[in-house]
Amino acid sequence: MKVVAFNGSARKDGNTAILANYVLRELEKEGIETELIQLAGQKIHGCIACRKCFENKDQRCSVKNDILNECIEKMLDAHGIILASPTYFADLTTELKALIDRAGYVAKANDDMFRRKVGAAVVVARRGGTIHVFDSINHFFFISQMIVPGSSYWNIAFGREKGEVEKDEEGILIMKTLGENMAWLLKKIHE
Ligand SMILES: Cc1cc2nc3c(=O)[nH]c(=O)nc-3n(C[C@H](O)[C@H](O)[C@H](O)COP(=O)(O)O)c2cc1C
Repeated sequence: MKVVAFNGSARKDGNTAILANYVLRELEKEGIETELIQLAGQKIHGCIACRKCFENKDQRCSVKNDILNECIEKMLDAHGIILASPTYFADLTTELKALIDRAGYVAKANDDMFRRKVGAAVVVARRGGTIHVFDSINHFFFISQMIVPGSSYWNIAFGREKGEVEKDEEGILIMKTLGENMAWLLKKIHE
């Protein structure tokens, strides 16, 4: 089994990556293969609303000049998908929004191709806006007919400078518990 995580932060290896990795480590302990893809510095555009995905129905975006289709392939290949984002002006990053809009639209054009995969959001902020980001990411999972495990709290943690999130003990525990629950759910579904 495999879980792929996307870090939507514009900053590579920052707090969002740290949190996603806490979830992934728990999954690995249960024998689940993991991969973290960092969108920082990569070319990924928003949806241009051409609706070609509804004509082509080939599980791909017709705009092929960036990493989006590579991301879609990883998502299709995985049993679980983690979407992680820092909070930018009380919302998710433009990079992650681009991934959600385009992968989400392609999925709709192809009979909800992520249906029954397990999804989890991971969110970090310095101070405020996390719940809005958490909700935005979950909207993608739920409209895609995906299955979402919970944790001991909403999957959020706090920190500003790179690494600061390590000081948020409860936040780290939430991520570990999320990883445990995601592994448990994946095993119930697939074993
Ligand atoms: C453009 C921008 C907007 C931000 N907006 C918010 C915000 O609305 N609320 C907040 O608490 N932190 C905000 N932050 C702080 C980040 O969420 C915080 O530093 C986070 O730890 C960054 O994660 P990263 O290390 O993975 O990049 C913002 C940071 C940037 C660069």
